[in-house]
Amino acid sequence: MTSTAASPRPALLAARPGPWWRDAVTYQVYIRSFADGDGDGMGDIAGIRSRLGYLAELGVDAVWINPWYPSPQADAGYDVADYRDIEPAFGTLADAEALIEQAHGLGLRVLLDIVPNHTSDEHPWFVEALASGPGSPARRRYLFRPGKGPDGALPPNDWKAVFGGPAWRRVTEPDGRPGEWYLHLFDPKQPDLNWDDPTVRTEFLDILRFWFDRGADGFRIDVAHGLVKDPAMPDLGRHDPRGLVEPQLLGAATLSDHPHWDRPGVHEIYRTWRKLAEGYDPPKVFVAEAWVSSPARLAAYLRPGELNTAFDFDFVIAPWNAESLRRTATSSLLAHDSVGAPVMWVLSNHDITRHVTRLGRPDARVAKDPLRSDHHGEADPVLGRRRARAALLLELALPGGVYLYQGEELGLEEVEDLPEEVLQDPTWARSHHTERGRDGCRVPLPWTASGPSLGFGAAPGWLPQPASWGGPGGLSVEAQAEDPGSMLSFYRTALRLRRELAAQGALGAGGAASLTWLDLGEDVVAFRREPGFVCVLNAGEGAAPLPAGRQLLASGPMEEGQLPPDTSVWLSTTWSAPSAPAAS
Ligand code: NOJ
Repeated sequence: MTSTAASPRPALLAARPGPWWRDAVTYQVYIRSFADGDGDGMGDIAGIRSRLGYLAELGVDAVWINPWYPSPQADAGYDVADYRDIEPAFGTLADAEALIEQAHGLGLRVLLDIVPNHTSDEHPWFVEALASGPGSPARRRYLFRPGKGPDGALPPNDWKAVFGGPAWRRVTEPDGRPGEWYLHLFDPKQPDLNWDDPTVRTEFLDILRFWFDRGADGFRIDVAHGLVKDPAMPDLGRHDPRGLVEPQLLGAATLSDHPHWDRPGVHEIYRTWRKLAEGYDPPKVFVAEAWVSSPARLAAYLRPGELNTAFDFDFVIAPWNAESLRRTATSSLLAHDSVGAPVMWVLSNHDITRHVTRLGRPDARVAKDPLRSDHHGEADPVLGRRRARAALLLELALPGGVYLYQGEELGLEEVEDLPEEVLQDPTWARSHHTERGRDGCRVPLPWTASGPSLGFGAAPGWLPQPASWGGPGGLSVEAQAEDPGSMLSFYRTALRLRRELAAQGALGAGGAASLTWLDLGEDVVAFRREPGFVCVLNAGEGAAPLPAGRQLLASGPMEEGQLPPDTSVWLSTTWSAPSAPAAS
């Protein structure tokens, strides 16, 4: 199940034309919940290392590891206290280096997570800023402002934190008096950096270099669209009655001149980062997390000389029906084509309700904002898993790369009934216990059918797993590994097939131009990629599930007319459409 045997993958990767990242499948390792090597209930580097063979066997090209730096963990590691070391609960710097080397030996690239919008309030810079007082160079690295009102007792403006409440906190000055306010677009323990300060820019280039020199192949950039703020800091003037909604993580930056999201000034920063990355052989790579308002705004981050790739979250918010899937794919492909960048398709991550649950809901779409409880009826996980299979094949069949979130290969659903006392997402406290936050997609992985945390580690994990994940018929790797009908087998087959098809040249070049939509009926998403590949999937909006076993995945020659009407998915190398008219 978790063999670490050497695989032929490095050779396969080397044989592929073009830069590896343009069509890579990257697996997101949420370190806290992937595997616990030392039995303290928290995932760690030793745990990841023990399961790298599983990832190579699964057939992915790269891993992205969520922040592993020293951190008070106020936001699960996105509150970094030292960017050049490892959180002791996760391991040591030597462990990190050994992991990178081991992954490379298995043909897996390693992407790390850089958090440039904010540090932890326990970062030495912020500690120094508090001690140094107003006007000091240390304060200029963050966004301190005097308050409004007679005694400066009111926040400098009306901005709201993503996790709830005002985006400002007042500090006590070294002389003991109430003083300035600092900006935190997320938790108060995550003060925003001032990217107009040249020392901030130099420092992050140096941090990137630190990890590149240790073998990291690239970085995922946290809140890539948030670094630059309008120095005038104008009021947003838009409030949700609950005082929570502005800014949203999803659906953000809908204003054309938003004072803190997606400002033009961020692009200059990424040009310097790309230049640094291109100085390595092979060049290092970036993927941006940028929640912006349109595919065109996203593509602006990928112009020549800027970032290589960015997550495309549009399938996350697209309703599950053929028309919307086609429209979403087309607009993303065209926008990315315009800058010569590949799309990076995403269905789930550690901030978003798992897609088995989203797609199993009657209206089959995500909440508009992942941090808000926005349920639209009970989820049917059986329906959700069927749709998840089709969704995976759609992602894998489209030109570009794919990011998988750990556990989606097991068909894990969102754990929506975690007891309130275990919730750790800062959203829970900041929303005064009205928003449960993102813990439901962060529950530790089930590796075995039994044990204190189903093989996650020797002790119960930091969040409890549902009983239904255990047992011989459960969702653990052990329960699924030898079952040809399981979700895990489906992922393995699909990933192998994609790699084989690419190696045979059946997928042709990427981009919208290589793809022709086929009209095979109202609820069918179908397209051909030249020279020899067709993807057909059933994407009806109705809740009627397909009969069990009808989800098909095949490769090889097929005759015209061989597509059964109730087939949900075919992938074929040499299938030609019946006389149906081709739609562009
Ligand atoms: C996006 C990350 O994915 C999320 O987990 C985190 O809370 C925020 N950025 C703040 O760093």
